[in-house]
Amino acid sequence: MRRIVVRTLGGVILVALLVVGGLYAYAEHDVAIPSIATQARLDASPATIERGRYLVTSADCIACHTMPKGKPFAGGLALDSPVGQIYSTNITPDRKNGIGDYTLDDFDHALRHGIAKRGDTLYPAMPFPSYAHMTPDDIAAMYAYLMHDVEPVDSPNHDTKIRWPLSARWPLAIWRKLFGPAPAVPATDRERYADPRIARGAYLVQGPGHCGSCHTPRAVTMQEKALDDTSPLYLSGGMRVDGWVPVNLRGSADGLGSWSVDDIVASLKTGRNATHAVIGSAMSDVVFHSLQYLSDDDLGAIAVYLKSLPADPGGPTYVADPRTANELRNGINATRGAELYVDNCAACHATSGLGRTHALPAIAGNSSVLTKDPGSMIRLILAGSELPATAEAPSALGMPAFGWRLSDAETAELLSFVRNSWGNHAPAVSAAQVRRIRAALEAEDTPQQ
Ligand code: HEC
Ligand code: HEC
Ligand code: HEC
Repeated sequence: MRRIVVRTLGGVILVALLVVGGLYAYAEHDVAIPSIATQARLDASPATIERGRYLVTSADCIACHTMPKGKPFAGGLALDSPVGQIYSTNITPDRKNGIGDYTLDDFDHALRHGIAKRGDTLYPAMPFPSYAHMTPDDIAAMYAYLMHDVEPVDSPNHDTKIRWPLSARWPLAIWRKLFGPAPAVPATDRERYADPRIARGAYLVQGPGHCGSCHTPRAVTMQEKALDDTSPLYLSGGMRVDGWVPVNLRGSADGLGSWSVDDIVASLKTGRNATHAVIGSAMSDVVFHSLQYLSDDDLGAIAVYLKSLPADPGGPTYVADPRTANELRNGINATRGAELYVDNCAACHATSGLGRTHALPAIAGNSSVLTKDPGSMIRLILAGSELPATAEAPSALGMPAFGWRLSDAETAELLSFVRNSWGNHAPAVSAAQVRRIRAALEAEDTPQQ
């Protein structure tokens, strides 16, 4: 069933690309890309290499271009896409299999334009629409670091596991022409921000950090609906990654509206903070490989920039309301959801829904609870959390799993109650939504053949 959906989606994408893009491609031939060498100085001084290392870290290249336990940057990691598996490539300076014989222009073509050295268009699994925001100098510094300070590895690249006709790359070129931004345009964006700290944060988030590649919704044709904050859709919450919902990062109730700058910095640095607890798999990888190594100034700039993004109208809301707490305290369980909350949750999260700072997160007004897509919350209730204790957060207290004791319908009623009590207002959850996630969790637990 799932495969059929995936194939149909692939088909829809292909047809859409053919129809819309075919005409466009005829009208518009590739314009020659100006050489980056005229805009950036190529130097390999220790200072430039060090700056390149920091930028490569902030761009999280290592997360996609390294296999588990593999040599850094040697590629080979399989990434899932709606049409099949795509493998990241070897970007060590090896001449045969890596980027050893890439000129700075070749490198720039891949990074900001999405064009491989052999001339084909890259799959946007490589986040070139974001890297297009980067300045020529920063691209040159990353090149200097990868060419001069990374160990060459001769492991060969894999072909993608995508069947013909979807494996043909020319529709990707059409996609790129339609949806890939022209690098020169976004690079000047910084002039839009009066405050230099916000400008720095905007650059890190839109460019190297490619936060939008997960946190911005995508169209049927798979492009991000916005690549910068000129649209209220930018960072308003994305498609699930490994079952987790990349949350809204704007100033909304289901976003970072109630978070302080310090909360955001703590989360980006350590994966948790005083009031918001759980960070799911995809985001903990970003923290682990990339964000924890950024300077406090840069994390602060990211946080200040995110706090500058206004709420998107019409989303979930929170206005504290004492009624739920009063009713629960007086033993009034008007709904099955309320009853289930008292029996299973109130011992830890309290009838007030406020939990206890540092140990038990509040549920009232919690942005993770209010997300439009309840996927992460269903996952958490069914499977619990198994976050290890860290130096910053030594308590190893986790959230127990309830999947064994609550049915799909009960989980749905409980979550609908939680999402609409104490002043929370978010869409109700259905038993069908819970059933699908329970099945996905069971499939993850079954060893693959
Ligand atoms: C989210 C995953 C992801 C991230 C992050 C990422 N890449 Fe990639 N990259 C890929 C994938 C997948 C491909 C292969 C795409 C294809 O086959 O069409 C690729 C291709 C490339 C290529 C093309 C090589 C060629 O064939 O010419 C280069 C160069 C490259 N990446 C460099 C980088 C650098 C440098 C960074 C960090 C600034 C980076 N990538 C970050 C996934 C990623
Ligand atoms: C590979 C996909 C991916 C990328 C790239 C990514 N995120 Fe996330 N992010 C997620 C997911 C998934 C979650 C939800 C995790 C959860 O619910 O525990 C998340 C959650 C968050 C949260 C909320 C954490 C919490 O405790 O609820 C913040 C803040 C955040 N991301 C910021 C960022 C910033 C800033 C960037 C760019 C520097 C970024 N993310 C890049 C996938 C991603
Ligand atoms: C034994 C104590 C305990 C019980 C019982 C419990 N929880 Fe939790 N819950 C926790 C802890 C601890 C966390 C933080 C998890 C972490 O950091 O790994 C948490 C996290 C959460 C979160 C995520 C908050 C965030 O910011 O990401 C939600 C939502 C939640 N619990 C809801 C519930 C519901 C609904 C129930 C009843 C079915 C419940 N909990 C029962 C201890 C508990």
